[in-house]
Amino acid sequence: MSPALAGRVALVTGSSRGIGAAIARLFAQAGAQVALHGRDVAALSAVRADIERGGGHVIQVAADVTRFAEIEAMRRQIEGALGPIDILVANAGGSFTQPGPLEETSEEGWRASLDGNLTATFLTIKSIVPGMKARKAGTIITISSAAGRRPHPRSPIPYAAAKAGIQMLTQHLATQVGPYGIRVTCIAPETILTERNQQRIPHAQQQALVDVHPIKRLGTPDDVARAALFLASDDAAWITGIIVDVAGGGVMV
Ligand SMILES: NC(=O)c1ccc[n+]([C@@H]2O[C@H](COP(=O)([O-])OP(=O)(O)OC[C@H]3O[C@@H](n4cnc5c(N)ncnc54)[C@H](OP(=O)(O)O)[C@@H]3O)[C@@H](O)[C@H]2O)c1
Repeated sequence: MSPALAGRVALVTGSSRGIGAAIARLFAQAGAQVALHGRDVAALSAVRADIERGGGHVIQVAADVTRFAEIEAMRRQIEGALGPIDILVANAGGSFTQPGPLEETSEEGWRASLDGNLTATFLTIKSIVPGMKARKAGTIITISSAAGRRPHPRSPIPYAAAKAGIQMLTQHLATQVGPYGIRVTCIAPETILTERNQQRIPHAQQQALVDVHPIKRLGTPDDVARAALFLASDDAAWITGIIVDVAGGGVMV
């Protein structure tokens, strides 16, 4: 049997580290040619070398996904090097404010959160989806968060609102592009122990977070990557418009 993504071209935004790097690694193992993306060229090169050591075929591209012109240039670069993009994982994003009362949230933090998550996802898809529609094929996976699934005091409101917006964008788009043979799904992870989170979240707090999950551990980047591989593969051929909680049972909607 050939690997699940053999012959496919995948762009994974935000794959210079964290969840995106794990998705890129697994997609390459599954036979995809992967475009690694981020802004930190040294980090991208390290992920690229790691995947190439495992026999994977990758290129690396850099762009700020809040800027449409840069995304368009990146798309053209990928198409020139690998061919049309079959799979898009719009993963780049992050949280730009602290949790707290709305009136203490800065306008700048609000705008950065919306721009860096919701608008970045919109602009990335806006660049990639016309080619998919023309070819009547493609798969798009967006990345929300448990923060966007239910109100929680630990979640910054701007990040939660941006991620909830990504869910509606996903579902609305799924209805638009389903007739073109394009599937659009969304993954909403709870706390994932990326390199950054391992450094950022004190050990005692990590343990407290474990305790609120029915499955008594925090998530790993590979937990998210395995869900993404399923959604990107033909095994999910009749699945679109869903939000998958990769959350150890910490979110049940
Ligand atoms: N980790 C979690 O617990 C968790 C939980 C729920 C949802 N998520 C979501 O999952 C996604 C990945 O999170 P992560 O924890 O793996 O993040 P991370 O380790 O901080 O990595 C973020 C990635 O996104 C890229 N990126 C961010 N903003 C960008 C921009 N404007 N232009 C280009 N690249 C940009 C970064 O690139 P450079 O560093 O190269 O600039 C990096 O590759 C995010 O959307 C996040 O909101 C994470």
